[in-house]
Amino acid sequence: MDLGLRGKRALITGGSHGIGLAAAKALAAEGCDVAICSRSEERLASASKELKALGVAVIAAPCDVHSGETIQAFCDDVAKQWGGVDILINNVGGGGRWGKASVEDTDEKVWVEVYEKNALAAVRFTVRCLPYMRQKKWGRVVTVTSRLGREGGGRAWFNMAKAAQTSMMKTLGMNHELAGDGITFNSVAPGNIMIPNTGWEENMKTDPEGFRKYVAQECPLGRLGTPEEVGAVIAFICSQRASLINGAAIAVDGGESRAF
Ligand SMILES: NC(=O)c1ccc[n+]([C@@H]2O[C@H](COP(=O)([O-])OP(=O)(O)OC[C@H]3O[C@@H](n4cnc5c(N)ncnc54)[C@H](OP(=O)(O)O)[C@@H]3O)[C@@H](O)[C@H]2O)c1
Repeated sequence: MDLGLRGKRALITGGSHGIGLAAAKALAAEGCDVAICSRSEERLASASKELKALGVAVIAAPCDVHSGETIQAFCDDVAKQWGGVDILINNVGGGGRWGKASVEDTDEKVWVEVYEKNALAAVRFTVRCLPYMRQKKWGRVVTVTSRLGREGGGRAWFNMAKAAQTSMMKTLGMNHELAGDGITFNSVAPGNIMIPNTGWEENMKTDPEGFRKYVAQECPLGRLGTPEEVGAVIAFICSQRASLINGAAIAVDGGESRAF
């Protein structure tokens, strides 16, 4: 199926690893030029090499999403090189394991940092990229949330930040002016995704029996998801074929979530 994305310019936050890299690859495979940002220059260089091998233009630059100025500088740089952005994937996030099990023992700064890394980062990139999409009368904004952005169950600061992202996508999707300019806003809510060199892989190695039990209990498919399975859905939502999908919160979780 041709997704009709050839020549589009896509910015993927945290595109050097995990779901972000998988989304960047899926979009590049459809002919999108891709701009990725994250903190580690080493990861960026390795991701950039993989993406260039797909035959598209790649911008890869360091950017910590906790800094509004750095986000502005990165967006300005992409716009200077490409004239704008057509697709934004707000992928950076996390903090589901930050803080303590007890809310009383968790410092207020954890709430602030998790909110900034997830919700505020998505706000900052969205606000900076929207003018280019409005100019072209076409755009796609996809925010990577979590099944915990659609239901309770995790640490409260993480659910709160992910729910805020879900709400932002829905509310912007209902904005007639933005929709009238051909821009759609959606969130993708992954369940447990196995990412190399992150928490799940460590859990599997340090406590294989506990991991096996968790998967048997929580994952209807009997396994965790892969970043490529999430990346493929993100690319589809960005496509011309998905023009009626707007304001949706799409679960990509193998059936794990309790929410409808
Ligand atoms: N994996 C899961 O099971 C799962 C489940 C539900 C939701 N999600 C969501 O999916 C998204 C991606 O997660 P992932 O599991 O793919 O993570 P990951 O493999 O750890 O990748 C995160 C990416 O973001 C970058 N990054 C992290 N902190 C950053 C910061 N402060 N500023 C800029 N870049 C930063 C990382 O590079 P650097 O470290 O070099 O900066 C990396 O490129 C997150 O929003 C997460 O909440 C994941």
